[in-house]
This record gives sequence, C-alpha cells and structure tokens, in this order.
Amino acid sequence: MSFSDVAFLLTILLFGTYNAHGLIRPKHDKVVVCYVASWAAYRQGNGAFSLENLRPEHCTHLIYAFAGLNASNWTIRSLDPWADMEKDGIGNYKKMTTFRKQGLKVSLGIGGWNEGSTNYSLMASSSDRRRIFIASTVEFLKMYGFDGLDLDWEFPGSRGGAPYDKQNFVSLVKELKDAFREHRLSLTAAISAVSSTIDIAYDIPEISKYLDYIHVMAYDYHGAWNKQVLPNSPLRSKDRLDVEHTITYLLQQGAPAEKLVLGLAMYGRTFVLTSVPESPKINPIGLPSLDIGFKGPYTSEEGFMGFNEICEALVLFTQNWTTGWDNESSTAYAINKDRVVVYDDRKAMMAKVEYVKRKKLAGVMVWSIDTDDFRGKCTSLHNDMTLLDGRDYPLMKSINAALANNTIPFEGNQQPGSSSVQFLSNIAFALSIAMIYLSR
Ligand SMILES: *[C@@H]1O[C@H](CO)[C@@H](O)[C@H](O)[C@H]1NC(C)=O
Ligand SMILES: *[C@@H]1O[C@H](CO)[C@@H](O)[C@H](O)[C@H]1NC(C)=O
Ligand SMILES: *[C@@H]1O[C@H](CO)[C@@H](O)[C@H](O)[C@H]1NC(C)=O
Ligand SMILES: *[C@@H]1O[C@H](CO)[C@@H](O)[C@H](O)[C@H]1NC(C)=O
Ligand SMILES: *[C@@H]1O[C@H](CO)[C@@H](O)[C@H](O)[C@H]1NC(C)=O
Ligand SMILES: *[C@@H]1O[C@H](CO)[C@@H](O)[C@H](O)[C@H]1NC(C)=O
Repeated sequence: MSFSDVAFLLTILLFGTYNAHGLIRPKHDKVVVCYVASWAAYRQGNGAFSLENLRPEHCTHLIYAFAGLNASNWTIRSLDPWADMEKDGIGNYKKMTTFRKQGLKVSLGIGGWNEGSTNYSLMASSSDRRRIFIASTVEFLKMYGFDGLDLDWEFPGSRGGAPYDKQNFVSLVKELKDAFREHRLSLTAAISAVSSTIDIAYDIPEISKYLDYIHVMAYDYHGAWNKQVLPNSPLRSKDRLDVEHTITYLLQQGAPAEKLVLGLAMYGRTFVLTSVPESPKINPIGLPSLDIGFKGPYTSEEGFMGFNEICEALVLFTQNWTTGWDNESSTAYAINKDRVVVYDDRKAMMAKVEYVKRKKLAGVMVWSIDTDDFRGKCTSLHNDMTLLDGRDYPLMKSINAALANNTIPFEGNQQPGSSSVQFLSNIAFALSIAMIYLSR
C-alpha cells in the first residue's frame, strides 16, 4: 500500500464520503438546497450560467426556478418552454432531473416574484381550482421526473392577495401533500422572513405539518427602497429585521427546527449615496442614499449585484473599491465613491452556518447558485482557497466546509446520529480496503 493510497483513505475518512451513487459528498448531515435561476442562462459573458456550469457535489437538493400558473384553466405551466423542454429547446427539465442519478433531490419551484400573488390567491380560493391545480401538478412532476414541488407564492395575503389567503394556503398545502404521498413527491415552500408578512401569510403550525422543509428567504430585509444604506441579510440588528429575529420568531410560532432551512443570499444590494463620503474608509451603514441602486454588468437589475459580479469588480478595479466588515450585521460592504454594495462574503456565510448549527436547523438554501463565483474569477481575494480544493465556487465550498466542521466526532459533543453512523461506516470502509491490501 503506497503513501498515496494511505493519503487517499485518510482524505475520505476525514473530509468526504461516497454516497450510494459514487459521488463524493461533503461530510455533514445538513441539507444544502440550491436554487437555480433558469434565466441565468441568458446573462452576458462570464455571467451566463447553464446547467453545464452546475457542480452538484455542493448541494443535496436542487430547485429549478420557476414554473408558473396558467390562470385560464388553473394548471401548472412552463414559463419558458424553449429553455425547459427538449422539443426544439435546451431541455433544462431533463438536464435538472438527470442530477437525481447522482443522489440529489430535484424539485420544481412554482411562482417567484414576477408571477405575483393575485392568480395564486384566486386559484387557492376555490376547492375546484385547487383540485385541478393539484392534479395537473402531480401529472407534470411525474411527466418530467421531478422529486417534488417548491411553492414560491410571494406572498399569500399581500401584493394583490386577500386576507383569506392564509387559510387557503393551509388547504392548498394540505391537499397537495395528500395527493403527493402515494407518489412519494416532496413538498416544500419558500416563505418570507419579515414577521409582519409572516403574520398575514402563514399559519406556521398548520403548514409545518405538511411541508417537508420550509425555506426561509432570510434576505431582502433592506435595499435602496429604504433610501439608506442597510444590510440585505443582517445576522443581527437593533430593528429586529434580521436573521436571528426571523428564526426565533418562527420557532416561537411552532415551526420545528428540523424543518427550517435558512436562506443565504449569493448577492448583495446596491446603493448610491446622496453625497460622496470624505474618506472611503468609513462604515457606510446608515448613510442616506437614493431610492434606486446601481446595476451589475450581468444580472442588470437595479439595486442588485450577484456575488460573482461583486468579486469580479473587486478584482478588476481593486484600486477603486474599499472593502470593510460590518460587525453588527456580520456582513461585508464595498465602497467606490458614491456607490456602495452590502453583501455576504465567505465570512458572512460561515457566520450564518454557525448559527444554523447552533440552532440545530435542517440546513441552508442558497438564492441562487448561479451568482456564486462559479467560474473561479476571484481566487486572488481568497488566499486560502487552495484549502478548498480549487478556484471556483468559493461560497458554496465555504458553506459546506463550515457545515462539515465539528461533525467529526472525536472533537467531542457529537450527538449520536447519522453523521456518526456515517463516520463509523467510513472507518469500516477504510479498514476493509486496508485489509484487502494487507492480505495480498
Ligand atoms: C394572471 O392571469 C391572467 C389571466 O391568465 C394573466 O393575464 C396575467 O398575466 C397573470 N398574472 C401574472 C402576474 O402572471
Ligand atoms: C392556458 O390554458 C388555456 C386554456 O386551456 C390555453 O388556451 C392556453 O394556451 C394556456 N396558456 C399557456 C401559456 O399554456
Ligand atoms: C389547460 O391548458 C393546457 C394548455 O393549453 C392544456 O394542456 C390542459 O389540458 C388544460 N387542462 C385543463 C384541465 O383544462
Ligand atoms: C476606477 O478609477 C479610475 C481612476 O480614478 C477611473 O478612471 C475608472 O473609471 C474607475 N473605474 C471604475 C469601474 O470605477
Ligand atoms: C461585534 O459583535 C458582537 C456580537 O454582536 C459583539 O459581542 C462584539 O462586542 C462586537 N465587536 C466589536 C468590535 O464591536
Ligand atoms: C470549526 O468550528 C470550531 C468550533 O465551532 C471553530 O472554532 C473553528 O474556527 C471552525 N474551523 C473552521 C475551519 O471553520
């Protein structure tokens, strides 16, 4: 047995594990739900993300965003048949569900911001319409081979919704789950993180009974609309609009920790200050700003910048940007004259992962994997990236490394659970291979 064999066995033993499908997976028992924005394929240059760019080993679950609702006959529908379907198109449904062969769970998301709330409110308000919708959804998921559905109705009771949506959303979720059981389809939902929206939209104890996981969209707490520089996704704050208050509130309302999945933002929110600060070496949090932020070159959406766009700007125009860390919110910022972006870097992500572990939540989800530095353009910002095995996906790799850290049982305090079972099976696997070599 050569040194490299020993090293290989040790590597598997300590850091990775093969799943039943032969894919090396990060060694932790948390879920990592990766949303894929289908329209990311249409971005320009380095921003263009197709499913060939997806590295499934960073995720346990994938969600393809988004399908829509046909409000003429209350059925689920593709919003972009050319992208989604194989016939005369690129066939993303097929490409997504092919990742199931590598042990991932692949769901279809329905809704999203642009679909609005009104049509979902109308669908959920009638038991006949719900029945048609649910039947069409089961058929659609089976036809394209998805593992389940992720509800992304933003939001029951607001944006054109009605006060009775809260009750109807419970009916929708319950009836979907009833129909899904015999087909072994999973049912999840992405929910708002703002307590006032939560109160209007969700009966938390009831929907918790029927949802397999609850994806908490713990971002967009602030943006240019506040006319003040504030963090997109603060871990803590004084105004209660932050991750810790959201999770505490949901747990108080009766959401089980083991179903809560914390959303992580792979993007920042941008601001234009009303005046250029005298020194760029200030913390911009709280400074007044215009009500519209600037755009990134690829996502091209006012007030929004993908992490890939932020880190590329920091690498290409290093001298123009001053970066810093806001201790209270545990988020990063960068300033270039009157332009500010507040975002989650690797350190911010890891702080949130530590919180997820402390609270024993199910895991994390990311919106969205297509704005990580998936091309590895920003290695110079991360001098320790070699530890993370290569250049690309710095955020996804950091998240998984932080989830895996401290699940190695000989570091103490390990709960008996699947990770120790996994650990023992790794020992058994390594020993049996060693014995095969020694017995030769
Ligand atoms: C809601 O449904 C109507 C009728 O089909 C449609 O015209 C409208 O575009 C839908 N709304 C959204 C936001 O998609
Ligand atoms: C929606 O359903 C109506 C009624 O069946 C149909 O005529 C229309 O083509 C559908 N729209 C889409 C976009 O599938
Ligand atoms: C709804 O419309 C779609 C698209 O035209 C069609 O394929 C489907 O059969 C219709 N379903 C019902 C229940 O009318
Ligand atoms: C960076 O700064 C230089 C010198 O001040 C300026 O000419 C250039 O336009 C800036 N570029 C960006 C992208 O801000
Ligand atoms: C940073 O934040 C933590 C937690 O809110 C606090 O305990 C600590 O004192 C802060 N450190 C500084 C330097 O402000
Ligand atoms: C691993 O976790 C421990 C305890 O939570 C922490 O002190 C340490 O910094 C972490 N190491 C890494 C590499 O994240």
